[in-house]
Amino acid sequence: MVSRYRSFFSSSLLLLLFVIISVSAQDDNDPDQRYQDCARQFDCGDIQAAYPFWGGDRPIHCGGLPELSLTCNSTTQTTFITVLDLTYQVLRVDTANRILTVVRTDYQRGLCPADPSNTTVESTPFSLAPDTQLVTLYYGCSLLGNGIQAPASLGRFDCSSGSGNSGDYFVTSEDVAGSYEAAIRTLLGRCGMRVTVPANRTAMAGLEASPTAERLEAAIGEGFGARWTANDSLCATCQASGGQCGSNEGSFTCFCMDRPYDLECRGGTHSFFLSF
Ligand SMILES: *[C@@H]1O[C@H](CO)[C@@H](O)[C@H](O)[C@H]1NC(C)=O
Ligand SMILES: *[C@@H]1O[C@H](CO)[C@@H](O)[C@H](O)[C@H]1NC(C)=O
Ligand SMILES: *[C@@H]1O[C@H](CO)[C@@H](O)[C@H](O)[C@H]1NC(C)=O
Ligand SMILES: *[C@@H]1O[C@H](CO)[C@@H](O)[C@H](O)[C@H]1NC(C)=O
Repeated sequence: MVSRYRSFFSSSLLLLLFVIISVSAQDDNDPDQRYQDCARQFDCGDIQAAYPFWGGDRPIHCGGLPELSLTCNSTTQTTFITVLDLTYQVLRVDTANRILTVVRTDYQRGLCPADPSNTTVESTPFSLAPDTQLVTLYYGCSLLGNGIQAPASLGRFDCSSGSGNSGDYFVTSEDVAGSYEAAIRTLLGRCGMRVTVPANRTAMAGLEASPTAERLEAAIGEGFGARWTANDSLCATCQASGGQCGSNEGSFTCFCMDRPYDLECRGGTHSFFLSF
């Protein structure tokens, strides 16, 4: 009787152990879906990106903020991001320095977009990288009168397709305008519209000596650096613990194999293996 009871007890114990092992093994084989989602990179042509970006195979919870959304044109294998209603093509991702090199798509087709507007990074997760220089484009200006000599650093382009007495100008630095003679400041002050566009400082280097429309177009086309800020130190802690960074309803979240945590992965499958 006693031995039967014992054997019943030990087989139940074995069964229980078996169940525990299978459940744990299943956990190991099948990590949390959100962990799996966020382990994938955004991958489009030459562009690969991870946290704080989402898009492509990465659902929105893998991003740091809803606006850090990348889209891929699968035909052209080109990547885009839209910030404050302006769409930019992403040319490079420098993860170590947290810099995207981007170019405004409306300026990829020339200096005369249908609706020129300022590039703004204020109240966005981005700031301009240190190697960025602003160029100011003045649209719809009265042409310089006779006897007014345009300074060498004042660039000229033409969006008005030959309509009489208006023209377009650009200056490669904001301070330059201040040093112009009064007649030119007056001219620039009377232009229909003024727009600031960032460009790579190196690409702009040749422009002051030779401010041609072609050179400006080429310089803008090379893109500029937009540095992103995210919860980088939180993410580093999460990654060090084996997790994938993401967010949940606006809060930083660390997606781990077993489940999401606020900051870092604790316990779970690792400790099971150790205890075995
Ligand atoms: C992708 O790019 C091609 C070529 O520029 C364009 O015709 C197409 O509409 C784009 N697709 C999407 C989804 O934007
Ligand atoms: C761009 O910003 C400048 C300076 O803030 C402003 O004077 C100008 O009107 C803006 N241009 C447009 C098209 O909104
Ligand atoms: C600016 O141009 C230089 C020289 O081509 C390049 O090394 C640098 O990476 C560019 N900066 C950005 C943010 O793309
Ligand atoms: C950083 O995390 C905090 C707390 O989770 C969140 O409120 C904030 O929106 C996050 N910021 C960014 C830039 O992701």
